Amino acid sequence: MAVTGSVLITDVRPYGEGDRVDVLVTDGEITAIGPGLTAPKGVATLDGGGGILLPGLVDMHVHLREPGREDTETIATGSQAAARGGFTAVFTMANTEPVADNASVTDLVWRIGQEVGLCDVHPVGAVTVGLEGEQLAEMGMMNAGAAKVRLFSDDGKCVHDPVVMKRALEYAKGLGVLISQHSEDPRLTVGAVAHDGPTAARLGLTGWPRAAEESIVARDALLARDAGARIHVAHASCAGTVELIRFAREQGIDITAEVTPHHLLLDDSRLETYDGVNRVNPPLREASDNLALRAALAEGLIDCVATDHAPHASQEKCCEFSQARPGMLGLETSLSVIVQTMVQTGLLDWRGVARVMSERPAQIVGLDDHGRPIEVGEPGNLTIVDPDTEWVVKADDLASKSTNTPYAEMTLPAKVTATVLRGTVTHGSAAAGGENR
Ligand code: DOR
Repeated sequence: MAVTGSVLITDVRPYGEGDRVDVLVTDGEITAIGPGLTAPKGVATLDGGGGILLPGLVDMHVHLREPGREDTETIATGSQAAARGGFTAVFTMANTEPVADNASVTDLVWRIGQEVGLCDVHPVGAVTVGLEGEQLAEMGMMNAGAAKVRLFSDDGKCVHDPVVMKRALEYAKGLGVLISQHSEDPRLTVGAVAHDGPTAARLGLTGWPRAAEESIVARDALLARDAGARIHVAHASCAGTVELIRFAREQGIDITAEVTPHHLLLDDSRLETYDGVNRVNPPLREASDNLALRAALAEGLIDCVATDHAPHASQEKCCEFSQARPGMLGLETSLSVIVQTMVQTGLLDWRGVARVMSERPAQIVGLDDHGRPIEVGEPGNLTIVDPDTEWVVKADDLASKSTNTPYAEMTLPAKVTATVLRGTVTHGSAAAGGENR
């Protein structure tokens, strides 16, 4: 049984709308919403400071590196980063050591996450054994285990063999689970480290063409159509992917997609310094792709934001660009980047932020206790945001064990001030228990 708590949250505006209210969470569930609520005896008070109240954020794509690379992140440090970023549930990818391709690993990850208790850490199961792309992993066993794995991905690698992918989709359909594809045709990206465009050509970096992503998105949409299965596109990075999703949706194909904050904000002009912090898969593309992805997220063609939080050790990043490991931290900066790219630009309001960072990801992965409306009787998974503040990102101040943030020293708008998981404050500080009056 998950731990539940009680807290009175004062002075918040749900979805940034209407007058300020208080929200009482009792034993993990919202029990009252209104002005002037009083904390029952023994229930702590969390001062919302007039901030915006959102449903707890959900991230369907992170890498917490445990088991195997606990020198770069652990479920505990990643959970802390998640809580600070406003998340109440995250899905951690299977490219651990050993790979999460069986129920003993996925159940271990789930159990550690529950013991840490800062965030629900759902393991993503591998689609193929060892992420080798050849033999299907025991998806059914992982689904039947304590972790109830419902999302499968070989992320970091593409399930590139169409026959294997076809079979995986057929099994996923039968099990009622979802496959998230890392869309990258490996034959088109041999040695590739940067977006295949003028910047990479000038810098002498091997290019990763948009077609490497687009061709797999198109192929998988057709395979999903034939299998009657769902398919999810991980970290969509280019304008063409958006148009392919539009085409697939028009055919009635059950396709969903996510975009990372970095693909909304950053482009390949960052590569001029050869700083390995900017290496990521798929690569940062061009400003025109950023704009197409933002528009697609606003329109709903791209369903949600996922951080692809990917911690790496400094020796794996502070090296020759082509040798740097791909990946960027994202959990603690994502809300701010979405405010900068989507709210300040007028593309989304706070209801829209709740949709793309909480409700849609929860629906896509089938979580019934996250991404819920802020109403009496709903789970007390909540996030408070100060929309008017600015902060300078300091890599060393992040909770993550690694420091590979591309936003270091950047000034970002808005900050998560508190996070509540089933009535327990996981970030921010609550004042001690109230009195019955
Ligand atoms: O940049 C990336 N890093 N993309 C991925 O798909 C995998 C991830 C990692 O595991 O570091």
